[in-house]
Amino acid sequence: MSQDLKTKVYELMLTNRRHKGKHQYTLPSSNSYPYQWLWDSCFHAIILNHYNTEDAKKELLSLVANQFENGMIPHMIYWKPQNKKDFQLINWGKEGTSSITQPPMIAYGVWEIFQKDRDINFLKSIYPYIYHFYKYLLNERDPHEKHLIGIMNPDESGEDNSPRFDLALGLSPTQTLQENTKRRFKLIKQNISCRFDAPFCMRNFFWVKDVPFNSIMVLNLRLLSQIAQKIGKKGDAIYFEKKSDEITKAMRELMLEDGIFWSTYGEDYKKIKVKTWGIFAPLFAKMLTQREAKKLVKNHLLNKKEFWTDYPIPTVSLNDPSFDPKGFWRGPIWIATNWFIYKGLLNYGFKDVAEDIKRSSENLIQESGFREQFNPLTGEGQGAQNFTWGGLIIDMLEN
Ligand code: GLC
Repeated sequence: MSQDLKTKVYELMLTNRRHKGKHQYTLPSSNSYPYQWLWDSCFHAIILNHYNTEDAKKELLSLVANQFENGMIPHMIYWKPQNKKDFQLINWGKEGTSSITQPPMIAYGVWEIFQKDRDINFLKSIYPYIYHFYKYLLNERDPHEKHLIGIMNPDESGEDNSPRFDLALGLSPTQTLQENTKRRFKLIKQNISCRFDAPFCMRNFFWVKDVPFNSIMVLNLRLLSQIAQKIGKKGDAIYFEKKSDEITKAMRELMLEDGIFWSTYGEDYKKIKVKTWGIFAPLFAKMLTQREAKKLVKNHLLNKKEFWTDYPIPTVSLNDPSFDPKGFWRGPIWIATNWFIYKGLLNYGFKDVAEDIKRSSENLIQESGFREQFNPLTGEGQGAQNFTWGGLIIDMLEN
């Protein structure tokens, strides 16, 4: 790898670093995203771990510092609220943080750090927070005990306007961004009216069991189980491993059809058959058999009518009516989704395809810089500038 790229990533992480009291965290982009976000901070920990494990630990410790009493960790922390006109300074019905969460990548970040420096004390210090967080997801987000974790707002998936949520929101596949934003703001009001009480909010307003969220949960519970084991909590270790297996089984039963895992919505698990990068998320948690994985990659990932564009991987299949190469989560490439797919491919030994994705991601960054997303047809950079997720390229290049 060019030392140059490694240095550039580090400079970006330092430029976006902020402090509040004893807390240290990183902004995804200082102009466009001036707060701390949940899954972003997990990506930051993964990136920082390649430079300095202490900084990676600080990132996660500041993330968990605002945990709610019920165990939820909010997806946005407004450490230093900016001016009132900032559209991300949303009224979530409380001060200082949002009231929803994001994909639970924290155990993954913690485990990566532990792999580097074997610091048991760090595991012990962060364990109570993550224990309660995953327990919250298992208890509050699965009121019917079907072993699938629900989200109560599309933003909890991290893919705000993804077409996976159109049906549940009652929007058409060719909606405008304005229509989507208006509908999501209405949902926040509805969420406030049900006081973010997850079972109640999900039943009444928006109830999606999302494939990437649940796949991330499966792998993270497995790692949480290993973390528990390391610090001598044998009972917890068995419990979390069991929960991971239960979600895997439920996903196979309720989401899998013709080789594809589909997100579902509503109480009766209606499948949302919209092809997005999310169909590859189960590879990340190694939930498919070798045969199933091979078929998925051959028929869909490497299919030029679906995901194998000149600049892979679009977040939405080219032949889906919602595909829009400039549509935020409705088509553009995001380096984090490439990273998830890259890791998933390596789980199954698909080294060549993984290598192609790594090279393509590196080229996008070298050509257009650390942009938020990239156009999958032209490779052009789009959205926020100096956006940290590009730093995940270091984790692809060094592993
Ligand atoms: C956007 C993304 C979300 C991310 C946030 C901060 O809202 O959709 O996934 O966490 O920006 O980068």
